[in-house]
Amino acid sequence: MCGIVGYTGFQDAYDIVINGLRRLEYRGYDSAGIVLENETSSFSVEKTKGKVDDLVNIASNLRGTAKIGMGHTRWATHGVPSDRNSHPHVSNNGKVAIVHNGIIENYDTIKTMLTEKGFSFKSETDTEVLVNLIQYFTDLNIETDFPTAVRYALNEVYGAYAITVMHEDYPGILVVARLGSPLAIGIGEKEYFIASDASPFVEFTKEAIYLEEGHMATISLEGGVDIRTITDNSKIIPEIQELKLSLEQIEKGGYEHFMLKEIFEQPKSIHDTMRGRLIVNEGVIKMAGIWDHIEKFKNANRIIIIACGTSWHAGLIGEYLIEEFARIPVEVEYASEFRYRNPIITDKDVVIAISQSGETADTMAALKLAKERGAFIYGICNVVDSSIARITDAGSYTHAGPEIGVASTKAFTAQLTILSLIALKLGKHNGNLGNAEFMSLISELDAIPKKIEEVLEATHELTQHIAKDFIQATNFLYLGRGYNYPAALEGALKLKEISYIHAEGYPAAEMKHGPIALIDENMPIVIIAPKKGHYDKIVSNVQEIKARKGKVVAVVNKGDKQVSEMADYVIEIPETSECFSPIVASVPLQLLAYYIAVYRGANVDQPRNLAKSVTVE
Ligand code: F6R
Repeated sequence: MCGIVGYTGFQDAYDIVINGLRRLEYRGYDSAGIVLENETSSFSVEKTKGKVDDLVNIASNLRGTAKIGMGHTRWATHGVPSDRNSHPHVSNNGKVAIVHNGIIENYDTIKTMLTEKGFSFKSETDTEVLVNLIQYFTDLNIETDFPTAVRYALNEVYGAYAITVMHEDYPGILVVARLGSPLAIGIGEKEYFIASDASPFVEFTKEAIYLEEGHMATISLEGGVDIRTITDNSKIIPEIQELKLSLEQIEKGGYEHFMLKEIFEQPKSIHDTMRGRLIVNEGVIKMAGIWDHIEKFKNANRIIIIACGTSWHAGLIGEYLIEEFARIPVEVEYASEFRYRNPIITDKDVVIAISQSGETADTMAALKLAKERGAFIYGICNVVDSSIARITDAGSYTHAGPEIGVASTKAFTAQLTILSLIALKLGKHNGNLGNAEFMSLISELDAIPKKIEEVLEATHELTQHIAKDFIQATNFLYLGRGYNYPAALEGALKLKEISYIHAEGYPAAEMKHGPIALIDENMPIVIIAPKKGHYDKIVSNVQEIKARKGKVVAVVNKGDKQVSEMADYVIEIPETSECFSPIVASVPLQLLAYYIAVYRGANVDQPRNLAKSVTVE
């Protein structure tokens, strides 16, 4: 949801900002802009609707002109993507410039107040209101310096923001602040970097400060990083963290798209997620986050899983896993619904939040609500030190590595891996899972990375052939039962978000209660039919589809006969326990969606209207 970059130091600010924006483009890509402060301390601003490449087309003359500047890549909230709604926004007197990720919810009231004071507005954005409010406070009182004016303005707004602000009368200074949107400050040798995440500066420094909620910082080469609270200006001593991120992790590594790279990384990302946790030869699962709070889980009335999108699909599979093995009741909720429906929550509830980015606004708000009402909060996040990871009482990181493709792939299978570990650990601990079954399941889980390697090898070309036959499709149905019903939902989501083909996931048995009406010879139906898990029932479902001439793409186990004989296309995957089959079955579905989208000419890493971390509600 918008990416922001800032820089002050000895290097060319244009290059740092533009390269940084390219790395953050996954956060939004409908417009981009840059502002640089040259040696005479005046601003040069360029911005445009479109991608960072479009910005480069109009702004490359700024290369080499400045050592300080900032930029923005936008995912539109207020106002359509257009040149004038693009950031940076500059105040009426031309002296204050801002880039902003988030939403100022009371911008309308402030806009009315500022209009009455004679301010005018060129864009429809909430951000232009904020930058003028900062100007208003600098003008109001000669004693009010620039950082103080930013602080005053922020105390008047509510909503979510990560901002970077510059003022022509205060050369060499960047003022940053955060509430609800992430912001990292990279500390180099005689240079500072600012970004929505650390990826824009990973090759320049390994030291970073993650600005905390409600904090702001004044950054300059002379004064360093001065952090204060926004509400009362109290000084904060920052914690400098060492970055674990490497350049290699955030580059495409020879793959055409990040999504394909991330699909292929799954044997490793699942292995990394289990590493140090699943010790098969000792017959244990070590998870400090669970173990340190085992009484909370043991005594829980129920577990509520909250998440959005793909993470919600992982949560549904988590429900099956935890109920089957730990016998604790589980409810799975869309965070966006949960937060607004006055849910009954007690201190006997455990709430598990699942979020790849750890920044999703709805998930964050739902968590806060559950926390206020006394629940124990557990996080499953991929991004280390993300906002959700910070507010939870405990948690487990997925260790999938940075996921840059907007469509989630490796984060999903890593989430399933963590949920499997949690369910098995709880089941073993509370005696619902006998030793023999536990041992057999953990060996099976341990074998999953190898099986995914096999799947990638066996289905990479095959999915390309199948994809070619469906480029013109306008609808798809995805069906699965039991554990693979959520896998069907996820398969459908992957397809629709990157190829723009309408797709629906359904529990296979529900087909006859409505969707069957859609089936004719033009309807492709992807059906997940592993041997273990209601296979006979699925056979009947496939017969029902074939009787209506639907085109069946079946994901089956190697050597399958019955479904394969009826299916039009067969994708074979290795056999595994039913509870882990969604991890394996999801991989060819990701590949299929990927290749259909590629052959349709879609931009799979940056699908239209989407952004990687949804920091607005
Ligand atoms: C789909 C996708 C989204 C996210 C959702 C939640 O491929 O990526 O549906 O899963 O926006 O995001 P996180 O997991 O970051 O909270």
